[in-house]
Amino acid sequence: MTSNTQTVLGLETSCDETAAAVVRRGADGHVEVLSSVVGSQIAAHAPYGGVVPEIAARAHVESIDGIALQALKDSGLGFGDLTGVAATAGPGLVGGVMVGLAFGKAVALARDLPLVAVNHLEGHAVSAKLAADLPYPFLLLLVSGGHCQLLSVEGVGACRRLGSTIDDAAGEAFDKIAKTLGLPYPGGPALEALAEGGDAARFPLPRMLLGRKDCDFSFSGLKTAAARIAEGLTTEAERRDLAAAVQTAIAGQLAERSDRAMAAYAVEHEGRDLRFVVAGGVAANRAVRAMLEQTAAARGFTFTAPPLAYCTDNAAMIALAGAERLALGI
Ligand code: KG4
Ligand code: ZN
Repeated sequence: MTSNTQTVLGLETSCDETAAAVVRRGADGHVEVLSSVVGSQIAAHAPYGGVVPEIAARAHVESIDGIALQALKDSGLGFGDLTGVAATAGPGLVGGVMVGLAFGKAVALARDLPLVAVNHLEGHAVSAKLAADLPYPFLLLLVSGGHCQLLSVEGVGACRRLGSTIDDAAGEAFDKIAKTLGLPYPGGPALEALAEGGDAARFPLPRMLLGRKDCDFSFSGLKTAAARIAEGLTTEAERRDLAAAVQTAIAGQLAERSDRAMAAYAVEHEGRDLRFVVAGGVAANRAVRAMLEQTAAARGFTFTAPPLAYCTDNAAMIALAGAERLALGI
Protein backbone atom coordinates (compact mmCIF):
# COMPACT_ATOMS: atom_id res chain seq x y z
CA MET A 1 0.00 0.00 0.00
CA THR A 2 1.30 3.48 -0.81
CA SER A 3 1.50 6.36 1.66
CA ASN A 4 -1.63 8.40 2.14
CA THR A 5 -3.09 11.07 4.39
CA GLN A 6 -4.19 9.81 7.78
CA THR A 7 -6.30 11.65 10.36
CA VAL A 8 -6.16 9.70 13.60
CA LEU A 9 -7.78 9.97 17.02
CA GLY A 10 -5.14 8.93 19.59
CA LEU A 11 -5.90 7.72 23.13
CA GLU A 12 -3.41 7.39 26.02
CA THR A 13 -4.44 5.99 29.42
CA SER A 14 -1.52 3.80 30.49
CA CYS A 15 -0.50 5.72 33.61
CA ASP A 16 -1.92 8.79 35.34
CA GLU A 17 -2.80 10.97 32.37
CA THR A 18 -6.06 10.62 30.46
CA ALA A 19 -5.21 11.98 27.03
CA ALA A 20 -6.78 12.27 23.58
CA ALA A 21 -5.51 13.98 20.43
CA VAL A 22 -6.20 14.32 16.74
CA VAL A 23 -3.15 14.19 14.46
CA ARG A 24 -2.99 14.50 10.69
CA ARG A 25 -0.10 12.95 8.81
CA GLY A 26 0.10 13.92 5.14
CA ALA A 27 1.10 11.60 2.31
CA ASP A 28 4.48 13.41 2.34
CA GLY A 29 4.98 12.59 6.03
CA HIS A 30 4.24 16.13 7.21
CA VAL A 31 2.70 16.05 10.70
CA GLU A 32 0.04 18.39 12.07
CA VAL A 33 -1.23 18.15 15.65
CA LEU A 34 -4.84 19.33 15.29
CA SER A 35 -5.56 18.96 19.01
CA SER A 36 -3.99 17.47 22.13
CA VAL A 37 -5.84 17.28 25.43
CA VAL A 38 -4.18 15.93 28.57
CA GLY A 39 -6.22 15.45 31.73
CA SER A 40 -3.84 15.07 34.66
CA GLN A 41 -4.69 13.01 37.75
CA ILE A 42 -1.80 14.41 39.76
CA ALA A 43 -4.08 15.89 42.44
CA ALA A 44 -5.83 12.53 42.97
CA HIS A 45 -2.56 10.66 43.54
CA ALA A 46 -0.54 13.35 45.35
CA PRO A 47 -1.73 12.39 48.88
CA TYR A 48 -0.24 8.89 48.34
CA GLY A 49 3.12 10.07 46.96
CA GLY A 50 2.76 8.03 43.77
CA VAL A 51 0.29 6.63 41.25
CA VAL A 52 -2.36 4.35 42.82
CA PRO A 53 -3.49 1.94 40.03
CA GLU A 54 -7.06 1.55 41.32
CA ILE A 55 -7.59 5.32 41.55
CA ALA A 56 -6.02 5.80 38.11
CA ALA A 57 -8.28 3.23 36.42
CA ARG A 58 -11.43 4.74 37.89
CA ALA A 59 -10.37 8.28 36.98
CA HIS A 60 -9.73 7.19 33.36
CA VAL A 61 -13.25 5.72 33.11
CA GLU A 62 -14.76 8.92 34.43
CA SER A 63 -12.98 11.26 32.04
CA ILE A 64 -12.08 9.40 28.82
CA ASP A 65 -15.27 10.23 26.91
CA GLY A 66 -15.23 13.91 27.83
CA ILE A 67 -11.55 14.26 26.96
CA ALA A 68 -11.92 12.47 23.61
CA LEU A 69 -14.87 14.70 22.68
CA GLN A 70 -12.86 17.77 23.72
CA ALA A 71 -9.99 16.66 21.45
CA LEU A 72 -12.38 16.32 18.50
CA LYS A 73 -13.98 19.68 19.25
CA ASP A 74 -10.58 21.40 19.49
CA SER A 75 -9.53 19.88 16.16
CA GLY A 76 -12.61 21.30 14.43
CA LEU A 77 -13.34 17.82 13.01
CA GLY A 78 -16.04 15.23 13.57
CA PHE A 79 -15.88 11.43 13.86
CA GLY A 80 -16.66 11.27 10.12
CA ASP A 81 -13.35 12.98 9.28
CA LEU A 82 -11.21 10.34 10.98
CA THR A 83 -9.37 7.61 9.07
CA GLY A 84 -8.42 5.61 12.14
CA VAL A 85 -8.20 5.28 15.91
CA ALA A 86 -5.00 4.54 17.85
CA ALA A 87 -4.88 3.56 21.51
CA THR A 88 -2.04 2.63 23.86
CA ALA A 89 -2.23 -1.14 24.36
CA GLY A 90 0.70 -1.44 26.81
CA PRO A 91 2.99 -1.45 28.62
CA GLY A 92 1.34 0.32 31.54
CA LEU A 93 -1.11 -0.09 34.40
CA VAL A 94 -3.54 -2.67 33.10
CA GLY A 95 -6.70 -1.04 34.47
CA GLY A 96 -5.92 2.19 32.66
CA VAL A 97 -4.76 0.54 29.43
CA MET A 98 -8.04 -1.37 29.24
CA VAL A 99 -10.10 1.81 29.56
CA GLY A 100 -8.43 3.58 26.60
CA LEU A 101 -8.23 0.48 24.44
CA ALA A 102 -11.88 -0.52 25.02
CA PHE A 103 -13.00 3.07 24.37
CA GLY A 104 -10.96 3.11 21.14
CA LYS A 105 -12.46 -0.20 20.06
CA ALA A 106 -15.95 1.14 20.65
CA VAL A 107 -15.28 4.23 18.51
CA ALA A 108 -13.66 2.14 15.77
CA LEU A 109 -16.53 -0.34 15.75
CA ALA A 110 -19.24 2.33 15.74
CA ARG A 111 -17.56 4.35 12.95
CA ASP A 112 -16.19 1.42 10.96
CA LEU A 113 -12.60 2.64 11.39
CA PRO A 114 -9.37 0.67 11.73
CA LEU A 115 -7.98 0.47 15.27
CA VAL A 116 -4.22 0.48 15.85
CA ALA A 117 -2.95 -0.93 19.16
CA VAL A 118 0.13 1.17 19.92
CA ASN A 119 3.06 0.27 22.15
CA HIS A 120 3.51 3.17 24.57
CA LEU A 121 7.28 3.22 24.00
CA GLU A 122 6.79 3.48 20.25
CA GLY A 123 4.66 6.53 20.99
CA HIS A 124 7.53 8.16 22.91
CA ALA A 125 9.89 7.13 20.09
CA VAL A 126 7.96 9.19 17.50
CA SER A 127 7.14 12.10 19.86
CA ALA A 128 9.98 14.25 18.51
CA LYS A 129 8.36 14.04 15.06
CA LEU A 130 5.31 15.96 16.32
CA ALA A 131 7.13 19.27 16.09
CA ALA A 132 10.19 18.64 13.90
CA ASP A 133 10.92 17.11 10.54
CA LEU A 134 12.70 13.97 11.64
CA PRO A 135 13.23 11.10 9.20
CA TYR A 136 14.32 7.58 10.11
CA PRO A 137 16.79 6.24 11.13
CA PHE A 138 17.80 7.81 14.45
CA LEU A 139 19.41 6.92 17.75
CA LEU A 140 16.92 7.29 20.59
CA LEU A 141 17.39 7.74 24.33
CA LEU A 142 14.04 6.97 25.93
CA VAL A 143 13.97 8.19 29.53
CA SER A 144 10.71 8.11 31.44
CA GLY A 145 9.34 7.01 34.80
CA GLY A 146 9.18 3.40 33.70
CA HIS A 147 11.92 3.11 31.06
CA CYS A 148 15.51 3.98 30.38
CA GLN A 149 16.83 2.61 27.10
CA LEU A 150 19.01 3.44 24.12
CA LEU A 151 17.42 2.30 20.86
CA SER A 152 18.54 2.29 17.25
CA VAL A 153 15.29 3.20 15.45
CA GLU A 154 15.49 2.11 11.80
CA GLY A 155 11.85 2.65 10.75
CA VAL A 156 8.21 2.20 11.75
CA GLY A 157 8.19 -0.37 14.56
CA ALA A 158 11.79 -1.37 13.83
CA CYS A 159 13.85 -0.77 16.97
CA ARG A 160 17.01 -2.44 18.22
CA ARG A 161 18.02 -2.04 21.85
CA LEU A 162 21.62 -0.96 22.48
CA GLY A 163 21.30 -0.65 26.25
CA SER A 164 18.85 -0.37 29.11
CA THR A 165 18.71 0.03 32.87
CA ILE A 166 19.56 -2.97 34.99
CA ASP A 167 17.49 -1.64 37.92
CA ASP A 168 15.51 1.61 38.14
CA ALA A 169 14.48 3.92 35.31
CA ALA A 170 15.94 7.44 35.45
CA GLY A 171 12.53 9.01 36.15
CA GLU A 172 11.96 6.52 38.94
CA ALA A 173 15.31 7.53 40.44
CA PHE A 174 14.32 11.21 40.25
CA ASP A 175 10.95 10.43 41.88
CA LYS A 176 12.32 8.25 44.69
CA ILE A 177 15.20 10.57 45.57
CA ALA A 178 12.80 13.53 45.49
CA LYS A 179 10.66 11.70 48.03
CA THR A 180 13.59 11.27 50.42
CA LEU A 181 14.17 15.04 50.08
CA GLY A 182 10.57 15.58 51.18
CA LEU A 183 9.44 16.83 47.77
CA PRO A 184 5.90 16.29 46.43
CA TYR A 185 4.93 13.86 43.67
CA PRO A 186 5.83 13.89 40.79
CA GLY A 187 9.37 14.26 42.04
CA GLY A 188 11.29 14.96 38.82
CA PRO A 189 10.05 18.50 38.15
CA ALA A 190 10.13 19.29 41.90
CA LEU A 191 13.76 18.14 42.18
CA GLU A 192 14.73 20.19 39.12
CA ALA A 193 13.20 23.30 40.71
CA LEU A 194 14.97 22.66 44.04
CA ALA A 195 18.32 22.07 42.29
CA GLU A 196 18.34 25.53 40.76
CA GLY A 197 21.41 27.43 41.91
CA GLY A 198 22.64 24.46 43.95
CA ASP A 199 26.30 23.41 44.24
CA ALA A 200 26.50 20.00 42.57
CA ALA A 201 30.04 19.41 43.87
CA ARG A 202 29.21 19.63 47.60
CA PHE A 203 28.08 16.01 47.95
CA PRO A 204 30.08 13.44 45.97
CA LEU A 205 27.83 10.64 44.68
CA PRO A 206 28.91 7.24 43.32
CA ARG A 207 29.33 6.75 39.58
CA MET A 208 27.58 3.55 38.55
CA LEU A 209 28.83 0.62 36.40
CA LEU A 210 32.22 2.26 36.04
CA GLY A 211 34.06 -0.86 34.93
CA ARG A 212 31.62 -1.74 32.16
CA LYS A 213 31.95 -0.82 28.52
CA ASP A 214 28.31 -1.39 27.44
CA CYS A 215 25.40 1.05 27.19
CA ASP A 216 23.46 -0.14 30.26
CA PHE A 217 22.30 2.13 33.09
CA SER A 218 22.03 1.70 36.85
CA PHE A 219 20.54 4.12 39.37
CA SER A 220 19.85 2.09 42.51
CA GLY A 221 23.26 2.74 44.14
CA LEU A 222 22.83 6.45 43.51
CA LYS A 223 19.41 6.29 45.11
CA THR A 224 20.76 4.58 48.24
CA ALA A 225 23.68 7.01 48.55
CA ALA A 226 21.43 10.05 48.11
CA ALA A 227 18.93 8.73 50.68
CA ARG A 228 21.71 8.25 53.24
CA ILE A 229 22.95 11.83 52.73
CA ALA A 230 19.40 13.22 52.76
CA GLU A 231 18.78 11.75 56.24
CA GLY A 232 21.45 13.94 57.80
CA LEU A 233 20.55 17.24 56.14
CA THR A 234 19.28 20.15 58.18
CA THR A 235 19.39 23.27 56.02
CA GLU A 236 17.58 24.28 52.84
CA ALA A 237 20.93 25.08 51.18
CA GLU A 238 22.11 21.51 51.83
CA ARG A 239 18.95 20.07 50.31
CA ARG A 240 19.42 22.32 47.27
CA ASP A 241 23.01 21.18 46.84
CA LEU A 242 22.07 17.49 47.13
CA ALA A 243 19.30 17.98 44.53
CA ALA A 244 21.85 19.58 42.19
CA ALA A 245 24.33 16.73 42.78
CA VAL A 246 21.65 14.11 42.02
CA GLN A 247 20.51 15.88 38.87
CA THR A 248 24.10 16.22 37.65
CA ALA A 249 24.84 12.56 38.41
CA ILE A 250 21.76 11.30 36.52
CA ALA A 251 22.34 13.64 33.56
CA GLY A 252 26.02 12.63 33.52
CA GLN A 253 25.25 8.93 33.37
CA LEU A 254 22.67 9.44 30.62
CA ALA A 255 25.19 11.46 28.60
CA GLU A 256 28.05 9.01 29.13
CA ARG A 257 26.08 5.96 27.95
CA SER A 258 24.57 7.94 25.08
CA ASP A 259 28.07 8.92 24.02
CA ARG A 260 29.07 5.26 23.92
CA ALA A 261 25.95 4.36 21.93
CA MET A 262 26.61 7.23 19.49
CA ALA A 263 30.10 5.89 18.80
CA ALA A 264 28.73 2.43 17.94
CA TYR A 265 25.76 3.82 15.97
CA ALA A 266 28.06 6.07 13.91
CA VAL A 267 30.12 3.08 12.80
CA GLU A 268 26.97 1.17 11.77
CA HIS A 269 25.56 4.18 9.91
CA GLU A 270 28.72 5.40 8.22
CA GLY A 271 28.06 7.92 5.45
CA ARG A 272 24.52 8.64 6.63
CA ASP A 273 23.04 11.59 8.54
CA LEU A 274 23.50 11.00 12.28
CA ARG A 275 20.54 11.97 14.44
CA PHE A 276 20.17 11.71 18.21
CA VAL A 277 16.73 12.01 19.80
CA VAL A 278 15.79 12.13 23.48
CA ALA A 279 12.20 11.40 24.52
CA GLY A 280 10.15 10.55 27.63
CA GLY A 281 9.28 12.53 30.74
CA VAL A 282 12.88 13.00 31.90
CA ALA A 283 13.65 14.74 28.58
CA ALA A 284 11.77 17.68 30.12
CA ASN A 285 14.73 18.23 32.47
CA ARG A 286 16.87 21.15 31.27
CA ALA A 287 20.15 19.90 32.75
CA VAL A 288 19.63 16.51 31.09
CA ARG A 289 18.84 18.16 27.75
CA ALA A 290 21.83 20.47 27.92
CA MET A 291 24.29 17.68 28.66
CA LEU A 292 22.90 15.44 25.92
CA GLU A 293 22.91 18.27 23.42
CA GLN A 294 26.61 18.86 24.13
CA THR A 295 27.41 15.17 23.78
CA ALA A 296 25.55 14.91 20.48
CA ALA A 297 27.32 17.97 19.06
CA ALA A 298 30.73 16.56 20.01
CA ARG A 299 29.91 13.33 18.15
CA GLY A 300 28.57 15.06 15.02
CA PHE A 301 24.91 14.14 15.68
CA THR A 302 22.01 16.54 15.23
CA PHE A 303 20.03 16.79 18.46
CA THR A 304 16.23 16.69 18.67
CA ALA A 305 14.06 16.76 21.78
CA PRO A 306 10.28 17.11 21.75
CA PRO A 307 8.73 20.33 23.07
CA LEU A 308 8.00 19.94 26.80
CA ALA A 309 4.32 19.15 26.25
CA TYR A 310 5.24 16.12 24.15
CA CYS A 311 7.97 14.84 26.52
CA THR A 312 5.57 13.56 29.15
CA ASP A 313 2.66 11.25 28.39
CA ASN A 314 0.28 12.54 25.73
CA ALA A 315 -2.00 11.13 23.05
CA ALA A 316 -0.59 13.02 20.05
CA MET A 317 2.42 10.68 20.02
CA ILE A 318 0.09 7.67 20.13
CA ALA A 319 -2.00 9.08 17.25
CA LEU A 320 1.16 9.63 15.17
CA ALA A 321 2.49 6.12 15.84
CA GLY A 322 -0.90 4.84 14.66
CA ALA A 323 -0.95 7.11 11.60
CA GLU A 324 2.51 5.91 10.50
CA ARG A 325 1.35 2.30 10.65
CA LEU A 326 -1.93 3.00 8.82
CA ALA A 327 -0.04 4.87 6.09
CA LEU A 328 2.01 1.72 5.49
CA GLY A 329 -1.10 -0.48 5.57
CA ILE A 330 -0.01 -2.12 8.81
O1 KG4 B 1 7.01 9.73 30.10
P1 KG4 B 1 6.35 10.00 31.39
O2 KG4 B 1 5.32 11.10 31.47
O3 KG4 B 1 5.64 8.72 31.95
C1 KG4 B 1 6.12 7.43 31.78
O4 KG4 B 1 5.80 6.81 30.74
O5 KG4 B 1 6.87 7.01 32.70
O6 KG4 B 1 7.53 10.26 32.44
C2 KG4 B 1 7.27 10.58 33.78
C3 KG4 B 1 8.60 10.68 34.51
C4 KG4 B 1 8.45 10.83 36.01
O7 KG4 B 1 9.36 9.96 36.65
C5 KG4 B 1 8.82 12.30 36.24
O8 KG4 B 1 9.35 12.55 37.52
C6 KG4 B 1 9.85 12.51 35.16
O9 KG4 B 1 9.34 11.80 34.04
N1 KG4 B 1 10.01 13.95 34.87
C7 KG4 B 1 11.13 14.64 35.14
C8 KG4 B 1 10.87 15.99 34.80
N2 KG4 B 1 9.59 16.07 34.29
C9 KG4 B 1 9.09 14.79 34.35
N3 KG4 B 1 12.31 14.25 35.66
C10 KG4 B 1 13.26 15.21 35.83
N4 KG4 B 1 13.08 16.52 35.52
C11 KG4 B 1 11.92 16.95 35.00
N5 KG4 B 1 11.75 18.25 34.70
ZN1 ZN C 1 5.40 7.52 29.04
